[in-house]
Amino acid sequence: MKLFFFFSLLVFFLYFSSSTARGPLHSSLPSGIRNGSRISFSDSVRRQLFQDKQSKLSDDRAKGYMTNSDLEKAVKEFGRRCSNISRIYSIGKSVHGVPLWVIEISDMPGEEEPEPAFKFVGNVHGDEPVGRELLLHLANWICDNYMKDSLARLIVENIHLHILPSMNPDGYFLRRRGNANNIDLNRDFPDQFFPVNNDINARQPETRAVMNWLREMQFAASASLHGGALVANYPWDGTEDKRRNYYACPDDDTFRFMASIYSHSHHNMSLSKEFPGGITNGAFWYPIYGGMQDWNYIHAGCFELTLEISDNKWPNANELPTLWEYNKMSLLNLAASLVKTGIHGRIFSSDSGMPLPGSVTIKGINYTVKAGKGFADYHRLLAPGERYEVCGHYAWVQTKNHTYLTGRSSHDSGLYSRSRGHNQGEPAKY
Ligand SMILES: *[C@@H]1O[C@H](CO)[C@@H](O)[C@H](O)[C@H]1NC(C)=O
Ligand SMILES: *[C@@H]1O[C@H](CO)[C@@H](O)[C@H](O)[C@H]1NC(C)=O
Ligand SMILES: *[C@@H]1O[C@H](CO)[C@@H](O)[C@H](O)[C@H]1NC(C)=O
Ligand SMILES: *[C@@H]1O[C@H](CO)[C@@H](O)[C@H](O)[C@H]1NC(C)=O
Ligand SMILES: *[C@@H]1O[C@H](CO)[C@@H](O)[C@H](O)[C@H]1NC(C)=O
Ligand SMILES: [Zn+2]
Repeated sequence: MKLFFFFSLLVFFLYFSSSTARGPLHSSLPSGIRNGSRISFSDSVRRQLFQDKQSKLSDDRAKGYMTNSDLEKAVKEFGRRCSNISRIYSIGKSVHGVPLWVIEISDMPGEEEPEPAFKFVGNVHGDEPVGRELLLHLANWICDNYMKDSLARLIVENIHLHILPSMNPDGYFLRRRGNANNIDLNRDFPDQFFPVNNDINARQPETRAVMNWLREMQFAASASLHGGALVANYPWDGTEDKRRNYYACPDDDTFRFMASIYSHSHHNMSLSKEFPGGITNGAFWYPIYGGMQDWNYIHAGCFELTLEISDNKWPNANELPTLWEYNKMSLLNLAASLVKTGIHGRIFSSDSGMPLPGSVTIKGINYTVKAGKGFADYHRLLAPGERYEVCGHYAWVQTKNHTYLTGRSSHDSGLYSRSRGHNQGEPAKY
């Protein structure tokens, strides 16, 4: 069988400096964040008692934050107000039966199109509630501005954006990190090095819901929102030997580029003294196992970042508008980068002209990106400024490699602009 390709090349125009530094060693871990091992039973009981006491003491903290039922109302209200660019659905329920609501934003919500999908996941840790608030702001801001703002319009028209404001509503209610069973959901995914939590029956319902979601939907990229530090964290999160080390995944350049988009669009994340450029390799910061980020990249074809968006895990609610202003451009630019950079195209049979759900690889990068089932469209993020050889695969057949240069120009408008390379229009045949 012969194959031919249609590539469109999108060129990235904004120059980010200092995105290659890896950062000095740092010894102090933010308290309570991402400890590599699962807590033991006695630890967990002690912790629970402590936390129950704390949650009574700290009810004031939640003033000005949405309760779980406020969040549900806000999601449904959004769905009514912005019905022609959104769809509301649930991916499952928490241990205590709270629906895990998702807002999908697109000009054709719920319909398959040859467009990439991006997701944001908030409140993975129950006591990190800033993300769930900002994600509702984000949805509403896009709805209010997509007719007049070019970035909002670009997202609505070219991306399917899925927003899960809270992955852990029970943890939020309990004012603690873990879910109702006191399990850290960001340690509950199957792990590439340590199959300790590969027992499917032991998996938490919130984790299972996310895993099933990614089996049904193909996401090209995503980010989860955390608190307690200010840094954009990228894979790998774990090392094979359990030591703290820079442990690069095959797409290290791509991930550093993505993480830099977030940090450099942020109010001051890129100015971090602890993390040069405001980004870090997860394992270099401190290794974790069973995290959601690495699982996304390995098993779901999805390039996921873990974003620590505020030093204070649970700031006073009157700081939320400022935190929204600090993170707004980062959230928008990261989602938009999915169509402003990388390579995008479709795979067709040259005999029948039918879309072929094949895959593409890049020479020198040991990672396969699958094309979509319906339209055979593929969307692959790549760091700009390099020459790439792209190869298409279907069954045992392989196309001739195609070379592309993803450009970088001195054009410095402060926003991305979009341009197409050669080869647009007429498909090349092989
Ligand atoms: C994680 O917690 C355990 C037990 O509380 C402790 O012994 C270990 O040093 C911690 N690991 C990290 C990376 O902080
Ligand atoms: C949504 O509805 C508004 C108001 O009726 C309309 O102006 C707009 O074009 C619609 N947007 C889409 C994507 O259909
Ligand atoms: C960023 O700005 C906030 C608010 O002004 C400040 O508290 C924080 O220390 C700053 N962080 C960095 C890395 O500059
Ligand atoms: C084409 O690219 C693939 C990987 O994408 C690589 O394995 C193969 O060697 C390349 N072929 C040539 C002729 O360079
Ligand atoms: C490529 O990655 C796979 C895992 O995805 C691994 O099994 C294989 O050894 C890697 N190949 C090379 C050449 O590194
Ligand atoms: Zn967290």
